[in-house]
Amino acid sequence: MKFYIKTRNRLIKTKIPAPGTGNLVKKLSKIESRSMHGQVPIAWEKAENFNIYDIAGNKFIDFTSTIFVTNIGHANPRLLKYLSRAIKKKFIHSYAYINRVREKYIKELVKFAGKGFEKAFLMSAGTEATEAALKLMRLYGQKLKKRKLGIICFEGNWHGRTLGAQMMSGNKEQKKWIGYHDKNIHHLPFPYPEKLKEKNSEKFFKDSLKKLQRKIDFKKDICGVMVETFQGWGAVYYPKKYIRILSKFCKKNKILIAFDEMQSGFARTGYSFGYKYYNIIPDLICCGKGMGGGIALSGVIGKKKIMDLPEVGNMSSTNSANPIACNAGLAVLEEIKIKKLIKNTKIKGKILLKALNEIKDNNSHSIEKINGEGLIAAIIFKKNKNIKLKLRELVEKCMSEGLLIVYTGRESVKIGPPLTISKDALLEGIKILENNIRILFNK
Ligand SMILES: Cc1ncc(COP(=O)(O)O)c(C=O)c1O
Repeated sequence: MKFYIKTRNRLIKTKIPAPGTGNLVKKLSKIESRSMHGQVPIAWEKAENFNIYDIAGNKFIDFTSTIFVTNIGHANPRLLKYLSRAIKKKFIHSYAYINRVREKYIKELVKFAGKGFEKAFLMSAGTEATEAALKLMRLYGQKLKKRKLGIICFEGNWHGRTLGAQMMSGNKEQKKWIGYHDKNIHHLPFPYPEKLKEKNSEKFFKDSLKKLQRKIDFKKDICGVMVETFQGWGAVYYPKKYIRILSKFCKKNKILIAFDEMQSGFARTGYSFGYKYYNIIPDLICCGKGMGGGIALSGVIGKKKIMDLPEVGNMSSTNSANPIACNAGLAVLEEIKIKKLIKNTKIKGKILLKALNEIKDNNSHSIEKINGEGLIAAIIFKKNKNIKLKLRELVEKCMSEGLLIVYTGRESVKIGPPLTISKDALLEGIKILENNIRILFNK
């Protein structure tokens, strides 16, 4: 059979998409909002460590971690053990009534966040965490001055799909549905490294504040800055110096900084949290995705005086901190520690970035640059009118050979395997990617 592939890490024994996939897509499309659709057609049946199995038993190497969630590997044995323990014990939910596993988990989580963090509270979705940070920053501001409500965000950043999160996001198209703009949410231009070529970070920052400065007084009007650790679509980091200048500016003007660590948390970048890359300490960390290893879990971590600003009972959620989620979170933290995932991710990240840069050097006519840190990276392709279609083709071609990468819908593809991936599978996946880039972009 022409499509047959068998290696230690992959098994492709049917045409891809596997028989039955189209039918499932059709059935779901009839009953589910199309807003959930758009991914490449692979019908997942199960996933284990860095492998995904589809409904026909084809085995893929996963370079997505679903969407940077399964940092500790799909169906991690410790996670399964902890979940089974909770199920056996018949302890699935306790709303906001206290329980022991919640105490144990939050203690570990706060410790994991690093120096300067004292309290956390838990929710289920990432967008809830960024919304909660927005609320906390405003409560903080209002305590100092009634009008200190302003939030500074960045163009091109993304923070989730609920109202406040979309208002803070920098994508104008996506928030048209809101119908108005909160005049206390401001967006600064993102300091793309290309833009900083001529101006240094300090000048860029000062220039970008000028327009705002005409309307507002930073000390009196701004309570917080929301920073996505890197721009998701392309793993685009801020220049380190820029974040340090921003941090100083915030301290001087009594402004809080929240880091949206959804994609960058829980060892993904080779740091516990991505803020450590910049060598600053934010006031708040918003986290989710890798936090629960596949179980819905998100949270905000910060200093006591900020975290205790909401009144008693005024910041909680029905499913937050449920024992299943806390057990999952605990398994994630223990796995990161025991498997030394921070150190190992740094090492594997170097292998990944070196290989991707070699691919770029051999395909410099089509690839603009490689961004990344640890085991999250993006290949940024040169823009042209067909690039999105071409990259969709690239993702589908890789899939047909047993490798799943992230289709971003922009001029990039993203790579973020479980941090537990073997070196062998990492290199095998990179080879598939390289071959397909060469074939597709040299046609
Ligand atoms: C940076 C960032 N913030 C927030 C979110 C929202 O998280 P969730 O989809 O869990 O609501 C995401 C999700 O992709 C994200 O990447």
